[in-house]
Amino acid sequence: MTNRMPIVAGNWKMNLGPTEARDFAASILSDLVTVRGVESVLCPPAISLPAVHAVLSGTNVKLGAQNMYYEEKGAFTGEISPTMLQGLADYVILGHSERRTHFGETDDMVNRKAVAAFAHDLRPIVCVGEHLEDRDAGRTERVITSQVYGSLKGLPSNRLDELVVAYEPVWAIGTGRAATPKDAADVAGLIRALLVEMYGAVEASVIRVQYGGSVTTANAATFAAIPDIDGSLVGGASLRPDFAEIARQTLRAKKA
Ligand code: 13P
Repeated sequence: MTNRMPIVAGNWKMNLGPTEARDFAASILSDLVTVRGVESVLCPPAISLPAVHAVLSGTNVKLGAQNMYYEEKGAFTGEISPTMLQGLADYVILGHSERRTHFGETDDMVNRKAVAAFAHDLRPIVCVGEHLEDRDAGRTERVITSQVYGSLKGLPSNRLDELVVAYEPVWAIGTGRAATPKDAADVAGLIRALLVEMYGAVEASVIRVQYGGSVTTANAATFAAIPDIDGSLVGGASLRPDFAEIARQTLRAKKA
C-alpha cells in the first residue's frame, strides 16, 4: 500500500434533485461511513450540493461538485464560481469528457479551472481520456500527453496531494465496456510519468490517479489492485444502493 489515500468518487451526473439527492445520500451514508481508509466522495448536481452537504456534515464522506467556472463572479449566466463552492464542496470534478464533448471545454479552460480550484481550497479531480477513434488509431499516448500537459500545468507543486487525476477512456463511460486492467495500468503509468516530467518525482508521487468508465462492484477491486491507480470515479454504479461496496473493495484491494 502506498501512502496515498485511496479515493472513490461517485459522479451522479445530471441525476437527483435536492430532495432525491438528500434522501439517497442519507440512505447510503451508514454503509459508506464504515469504510475507513478510503476517501469517499459524493458529487451531486450543483443544485443539490447544499442538501447533500447537510447530510454529510460531521462524517468522513466528502462532497464534490461536477464542474465550475474559473472566474469569481460577474456576467457569466448559468455558471457557478469557485467562491460559491468554497466552504461547501471539498472536491470539484473538472474537464469531464461530457463537459469537453457537449460543452466545448478545452484543455486551456480545464487548466484555468484547476488553477482556480487550488486558489479556493477546492481539490480538483481532473479528467482525461481518449476517444475510441484515438485508441483505434494508436493515438492514446499522444492524446493523454497533450491533455495532461494542457490541463495540469502551473499548479502549486507543494500541494499536489490535493490533486486527483481521473483516467476515463471515453469509450468506457456508460457503455458497460470497462478498460482492461492492462490498458488502465498502462495509461495510469503514462499519466504518472508525465506528472513526474512536469513536477518532479517527489512532488508527483503524492498525486492520486483514478480509473473511471463502467466501474462496478464486479470490477472495482481489479482496478484498485493496480499500483498506479488509487481508486475510481464511478458514474452509473454510484447511484446504486451498494455504492459503498466499491469503496470497501477498493480498500481491501489496496491492503492486499
Ligand atoms: P460510468 O461509471 O457510468 O461508466 O461513468 C463513468 C464516469 O463518467 C464517471 O465520471
